[in-house]
Amino acid sequence: MKVDGKHFRSIWRERDGWTVGAIDQRRLPHEFVVAKLVSCEDAVVAIRDMLVRGAPLIGATAAYGMALAMREDPSDAGLKRAYDRLVVARPTAINLKWALDEMRAALAPIDPVERAEAAYARADEIVEQDVEINRGIAANGFALIEAIMAKKKPGETINILTHCNAGWLATVDWGTATAPIYLAHERGIKIHVWVDETRPRNQGASLTAWELGHHGVPHTVIPDNTGGHLMQHGMVDLAIVGTDRVAANGDVCNKIGTYLKALAAHDNGVPFYVALPSPTIDFAVDDGIRDIPIEQRSGTEVTEMTGRTADGRLETVRIVPEGSPVANYAFDVTPARLVTGLITERGVLKPDRAALAAAFPERIAAAAE
Ligand code: MRU
Repeated sequence: MKVDGKHFRSIWRERDGWTVGAIDQRRLPHEFVVAKLVSCEDAVVAIRDMLVRGAPLIGATAAYGMALAMREDPSDAGLKRAYDRLVVARPTAINLKWALDEMRAALAPIDPVERAEAAYARADEIVEQDVEINRGIAANGFALIEAIMAKKKPGETINILTHCNAGWLATVDWGTATAPIYLAHERGIKIHVWVDETRPRNQGASLTAWELGHHGVPHTVIPDNTGGHLMQHGMVDLAIVGTDRVAANGDVCNKIGTYLKALAAHDNGVPFYVALPSPTIDFAVDDGIRDIPIEQRSGTEVTEMTGRTADGRLETVRIVPEGSPVANYAFDVTPARLVTGLITERGVLKPDRAALAAAFPERIAAAAE
């Protein structure tokens, strides 16, 4: 996607062929800074500290983290150490484990002297695959938007609500929830996006608004509590969100607050779609609400906010009384019954076991191994 007219991806191999470049998402929207990852540990820290974030990008970063690790120590012990270190960097997005399993499967059978080169090659494939998958999501989601427009309001603006950042910054390119939006915008459909600010880290206000703005897509940032009101007043035609893990039964885990939006959508008859690449499906988890691990992050994300002051400085301020305990659950699970459909690269699926299994039989087989 474009930043000031220049095409960017969220992660790439630098010209030297081995250093990994990534946009430092902690600095957006105030500063555009490129970070260089030169070791496996850099990749671990980048994922843990959310320099990179978003389920598919976490997976891509882990893949390159394995490649960096194979430069450092390509032995069997080195491979295991890198896998074990990376896989616990964040707990909820299953794309992390998926990418690491793919890397391990490619590297374990080959001679250690060949592992570094093979690791970069496999990581590059994972990155390209993400872009291709998102193109598929774009096409399938676009058809939905087009159909809703034709049925409800031909030629008029379609209002789409999204939560958190499931945009190109959260993937390698295009995004998942935003992919159909970008395609519809490119094809001349009038789109307006309601962007949930997404407390406490504000990925909507900081990242989604930034990328939509740089790509010229009309949008409005709203406090997280606004969606229900907008839906009651017919101001949302559909919601599209991303996900960090979809259970075999169709339950959807995504950024905290997604569940409340799905409830409001259900109550108001607003279609609620989830865009997901197939690596986000976890066939090993039968019941999302019961079994998906929910990350709990530092309380300072709740007690403090960082922003730019009038004189241009970045400043962090406390917004909660000293001594008040806080809780910071980073994700929640939306039960499948509240989801209208799952927008995947292989079509728009019913959120249930049979539909997921029929569309992605090879993933079931892999989960059983
Ligand atoms: O904590 P984050 O910023 O990594 O959470 C990101 C989300 O919840 C996204 O909606 C999800 O990863 C889908 S990204 C295409």
